[in-house]
Amino acid sequence: METRRNNSAIETVIKESRVFSPPATFVEKANINDPAKYQTIWEDSQKNPVHFWESQAELIDWSKKWTQAFQWNEPFPKWFLEGKLNVAQNCLDRHLEKKKNKIAYIWEGEDGVVKKLTFQELYEEVCQLSNALESKLGLKAGDSASIYMPLIPEAIIAMLACARIGVAHSIVFAGFSSHSLRDRIQDADCKIVFTSDVGYRRGQVLELNKTVREAVSDCKTVKNVLVFKRNRHTDLQSNELDWREFVNDQPKTHKAQPFDSEHPLFYLYTSGTTGKPKGIVHSSGGYLVGVATTAKWIFDLKETDIFWCTADIGWITGHSYVVYGLLANGITSVIYEGAPMHPHAGRIWEIIDKHNVTTLYTAPTAIRAFMRAGDQHVEKYSLKSLRLLGSVGEPINPEAWMWYYQMIGKAKCPIVDTWWQTETGSILISPIPGITPLKPGSATKPFPGIVADIVNEEGKSLGPNEGGYLVIRHPWPSMLRTIHKNPERYKESYWSKFKGLYFTGDGAHKDENGYFWIKGRVDDVINVSGHRLGTMEIESALVSHPRVAEAAVVGRPDELKGQGIVAFVTPRDSGETLDVKSLAQELKNHVANEIGSLARPDEIKFTKTLPKTRSGKIMRRLLKDLAAGKEISGDTTTLENPSLVELIEN
Ligand code: WTA
Repeated sequence: METRRNNSAIETVIKESRVFSPPATFVEKANINDPAKYQTIWEDSQKNPVHFWESQAELIDWSKKWTQAFQWNEPFPKWFLEGKLNVAQNCLDRHLEKKKNKIAYIWEGEDGVVKKLTFQELYEEVCQLSNALESKLGLKAGDSASIYMPLIPEAIIAMLACARIGVAHSIVFAGFSSHSLRDRIQDADCKIVFTSDVGYRRGQVLELNKTVREAVSDCKTVKNVLVFKRNRHTDLQSNELDWREFVNDQPKTHKAQPFDSEHPLFYLYTSGTTGKPKGIVHSSGGYLVGVATTAKWIFDLKETDIFWCTADIGWITGHSYVVYGLLANGITSVIYEGAPMHPHAGRIWEIIDKHNVTTLYTAPTAIRAFMRAGDQHVEKYSLKSLRLLGSVGEPINPEAWMWYYQMIGKAKCPIVDTWWQTETGSILISPIPGITPLKPGSATKPFPGIVADIVNEEGKSLGPNEGGYLVIRHPWPSMLRTIHKNPERYKESYWSKFKGLYFTGDGAHKDENGYFWIKGRVDDVINVSGHRLGTMEIESALVSHPRVAEAAVVGRPDELKGQGIVAFVTPRDSGETLDVKSLAQELKNHVANEIGSLARPDEIKFTKTLPKTRSGKIMRRLLKDLAAGKEISGDTTTLENPSLVELIEN
């Protein structure tokens, strides 16, 4: 029996699994705050999701209205058939009449420099770039472009210019290595790369164009690199164009041409269980309806909001809730180039006070880091402008949820814990902040029009508190359309495990109130600080090193990052002379060079052999237990030779 008295409010709350009603002051002003009315919408949407999405398609401007909402050529969906629209026009032009002087973005650099862009200014910059891309380079619908940039307004201008002229963009997070960038440029046959000479983060200068140069030296399709120079003295090479010179003679208006609803808006590469990252293909019409609707409902958007989603545009969260979903609703956003704890641990709170941020949308890893840094860094700031908080990217542990709720939201801001994926395009499971009672650690319920379920290995629906696989039973508008150049892989990854159900790759359960509790990936994908990484990719990087014979990578629980990366490596030379420490260092750097520093293993363990079953499969479960420091459990009788998980240490 538990005899120790515990006075910590947080622990008591967690033990009681308390439910938090949406704070009354928030509910009063919320756009959606009538539970009975909402319940009817939600129930109808579960019976007829297409009908719900049809009603939401009104949120955006169609140059030609669609004739049929949905067509299912299983597993390939089409939404809003025959509809035509221009996504950039929806994000910019249509707001100009009423809010051309409204700020679209407040950009802050790590050194505190601020730049603001109104909708009119953003529109003009996008038009100039669109004109130049068309008239000087002949770019046109059907082409694709890679964007490898820091989080500066020009990155968003590049996205919108591509969208405007029908060129699919493929953004590569600027922390990826030249190899990763090259692979993605080659897979998408990009004709141009948008970059900047440098980026600034944690007080360091990142030589982005240097990485681009290394990458494009191997890319036949790339004709030009457009470089936004932040340093006047940067020299450019013959295939590189100076962004300012490229655009400055161009007209500040541009007539946007409408594209088909299914026209690809962007590719975004993400890690899967096997092979190289997959190019997730997103549409124009369905995607925009999905992000505009979810942004509006889940973030309770108001004209006066100052929205801050801290994600980089290199990830789906940045695409959907820094750019498209927010601009489509005409909302002001903050973007910040630097690290949230640089140069001091209160930097994020300082920015919130400085710009009167109303809504903060960030990742549990960041919340845990702020929490660990100590309350004194928060207490210096009032945070009184905040009214809503969001979480995304990984499960949020109840302790971090409570801290976020009490310390940051002062118990007056609801927290929307939003579950979704690169593939889903927009949020699929989340509270509606003026309606849904919150339970710390649960993403609560599916958004209207999303039919989610938990099933067992046979695809059968499970009851309350039975753990299984999270699936989606009905297609939704912002879902991926395919994997670029690989429709077979699309079928295999998402539609082959259960017939007719979208397989998310996540494990979850529902509780007795129908709340979803997402546990994390059930496949060989790991989630490090909210970033998705394939263990196979890291293994391939390791075995490309001449001193590695074999490698197996697993995730292990990490208090701060959610998961850490542990690699088991069998070296080619395992003799007496092996210097384990220096080889481990060398291999960590090698992985960072091959993929990017986000994939750098936390720990490398050298073993004489890897544990395998008699049929030659690596026993990952056993390695996961070992990595987590657990006793080896379960059945190891099929192991070829259990004593061979012999670590080499010195
Ligand atoms: C995980 C990020 C628990 C999940 C938007 C998913 C979450 C993967 C949550 C997708 C959440 C995302 N609670 N887990 N609120 N949000 N995940 O593609 O495992 O980078 O499958 O998209 O992140 O990661 P991705």
